[in-house]
Amino acid sequence: MAVCEVLRMGDPRLRRRAEDVERFGDVALGNLITDMLDTMKACDGAGLAAPQIGVPLRVVIFGVENNPRYPDAPPVPQTVLINPEIMPIGEASEEDWEGCLSVPGMRGLVRRHARIRYRGRDGEGQPIDRQASGFHARVVQHECDHLDGILYPDRIEDRQMFGFIPELQAAGLLGAADLPAEPA
Ligand code: NI
Repeated sequence: MAVCEVLRMGDPRLRRRAEDVERFGDVALGNLITDMLDTMKACDGAGLAAPQIGVPLRVVIFGVENNPRYPDAPPVPQTVLINPEIMPIGEASEEDWEGCLSVPGMRGLVRRHARIRYRGRDGEGQPIDRQASGFHARVVQHECDHLDGILYPDRIEDRQMFGFIPELQAAGLLGAADLPAEPA
């Protein structure tokens, strides 16, 4: 279909609450999903939410074949997740560096639930119900935040751990191993 422009932080369309999808399996939803997949691929992202291309619907996509930061972790399955719900499993949280296609060139240290259960539907309306941990859990939480108008800088606890990649590296805050973190 098309590679779409990704909105950047400051655009008010990134700050709205997106609406539930009511109809599954139709052409409009199929076209949206295709546009999102094309855009994520073109940007080399790990995930994308519909509001990032200006569509105020509760649709996210994500997936990573090989993550050099987590060589032993199972790949994150290529997923279309619609009307998602996230439930934390346990109390544990963990901090890690995140980026976002809507906040290009920057990274920030963000605390997320370490383990989650997530539910929703795929493009045909079939139910999805999974448990995830580590990077998989992080990507899902990051993408679903976009549906509520939340961007990762909102969740940074220590403002010193937010900045442009070369500056964070020069300061020794962001290590070389942190860089392949693909933006979402
Ligand atoms: Ni993002």
